Amino acid sequence: MKIFLDTALVEEIRELADLIDGVTTNPTLVARAGRPFVEVVREICGLVAGPVSVEVTALDAEGMVHEARELAKIADNVVIKIPMGKEGIRAVKKLEAEGIPTNVTLVFSPAQALWAAKAGASYVSPFVGRIDDRAGDGMELVSQILQIYENYGFETEVIVASVRHVRHVVEAALLGAHIATVPYAVAVKLFDHPLTDEGIKRFLSDWEKVPR
Ligand code: E4P
Repeated sequence: MKIFLDTALVEEIRELADLIDGVTTNPTLVARAGRPFVEVVREICGLVAGPVSVEVTALDAEGMVHEARELAKIADNVVIKIPMGKEGIRAVKKLEAEGIPTNVTLVFSPAQALWAAKAGASYVSPFVGRIDDRAGDGMELVSQILQIYENYGFETEVIVASVRHVRHVVEAALLGAHIATVPYAVAVKLFDHPLTDEGIKRFLSDWEKVPR
């Protein structure tokens, strides 16, 4: 499973750039970065070799396509994030036909994911954390999407998004999701275990006792 970083903070991306497989951003994350949009996207795209998802803000297909064409000029690894909906799906069809990769975002149902794949989206992003926040089952949605895609041989990759904790990442991997996009705070926890720290400490202290 590929691991993307879900952030627009260049410091976070720089720290893990050699390990991650891509980056996802959204308007909220870009606002948090507090820097001009195009400047920050250009910098992120230069830091990572993998895909960098950048979201459009227009609500009509024509406006989305126009914005996407401009964003795609920033770097070769830009992927256009398109909000789910009728207009979004129209934009996805057009952009993918032009060779501009898309990521259908704000997906909360298997039917929405079916439309994304039918339109030829490169990626689909079910938001598991926001579903769990409302006492739903985000991972059940991921499982349904993967099943539907397998049934029809769709090549759209599933990005498990709105990840809140390490368990979401592990569950995504167990289900066979293609990608999990994780906030920095979760990404660093993926490396850790208290028993690893304890084990290293004990090995080092025992090593001191080895006659030299
Ligand atoms: C995914 O691409 C989104 O940027 C992100 O995962 C949204 O997560 P949130 O629910 O924590 O805002």
